[in-house]
Amino acid sequence: MSGIKICGMGHYTPPKLMTNADLEKIVDTSDEWITSRTGITTRHHCVEETHSDMCREAAKMALEKAGIKPEEIGVCIVATLTSDFLAPSAACLVQRDLGLQDDTICFDLNGACSGFLFAMHTMECMLAASPQKHGLVIGAEMLSRFINWEDRSTCVLFGDAAGAAVVEWNEDYESIHALLGCHGDSDMLGVTGAGHKDPPQIFMNGQPVFKFAVTAVPWCIDQVLKRNGRTIDDVDFFVFHQANTRIIDLAVRKYHIPEEKYYKNIEKYGNTSAASIPMVLSELSQFGKVASGSRVMLVGFGGGLTWGAALVEFK
Ligand code: UT7
Repeated sequence: MSGIKICGMGHYTPPKLMTNADLEKIVDTSDEWITSRTGITTRHHCVEETHSDMCREAAKMALEKAGIKPEEIGVCIVATLTSDFLAPSAACLVQRDLGLQDDTICFDLNGACSGFLFAMHTMECMLAASPQKHGLVIGAEMLSRFINWEDRSTCVLFGDAAGAAVVEWNEDYESIHALLGCHGDSDMLGVTGAGHKDPPQIFMNGQPVFKFAVTAVPWCIDQVLKRNGRTIDDVDFFVFHQANTRIIDLAVRKYHIPEEKYYKNIEKYGNTSAASIPMVLSELSQFGKVASGSRVMLVGFGGGLTWGAALVEFK
């Protein structure tokens, strides 16, 4: 045995709200189309705020909730693909802004929308080998800067946000048994980069990605339960990546998950990529829907294509 538990969650969204009505003024779309096809009604976009501002605020809240001081953090991982700089990493800026110790291991990790799960697994492995037993896992994304405003099928989807978890490793805790995978594909979903002459932009082939997501989600749930020797009834709460309300609804129907065991905030925030799972966790914790002892199934999927799931407990 040995693993991590969540001790505190935090989140941050920039104040600027973009409503569906605002988008109607920019592209040929409608509130009716966006809400019925995606479930999104608003999303937050950074104006003056930076990516590192969002990481700092989410992390401060998580540390406060956990009652852990910055100097107790041994590893800091930021799951992101939209940091302020290609270098320094977002995690290095968190080290600066929160005053983490100089010997804190800080780095970014790109698992796209599954990034928080990749980061939680990496954190579990790293804390096992670290003298410090607390880690900071942040999922943060400023995708508004990479929106292609000529592509109505993607420009309505994304919002900016950060979510953070303070986790504790202990040899007596159960592992989160993360299941992670990828199928490399550069045409389906992503953000262009140095291999392209034009500035970075989001691209997505919506329907195939939707089909991938609705297959990946139940597959991930089944595999994680099998690995843990658990059943669906052993899970207190289900947290899905918030990409499309219809993807979540299909999973919920398939497993007969009751309303009190899952939560959607896509309506307010849109798709915030790596931030979406910790954003949900932080709100759940804030609303008292999860607490000490809660066992939560996390399921993510996205660009890469990547997928991931894990069973995480709250301390
Ligand atoms: O976070 C990582 C994982 N991401 C996902 O899992 C996203 C998966 N994909 C999806 O959620 C959906 O495919 C979308 C929400 C992106 C698109 O919904 P869809 O139901 O698959 O729409 P579509 O792309 O098949 O387009 C249907 C119609 C098209 O018009 P025609 O050709 O039927 O006349 C589009 O041009 O809807 C049109 N359309 C729009 N109309 C109004 C596409 N975007 C818009 C829009 N407003 N914003």
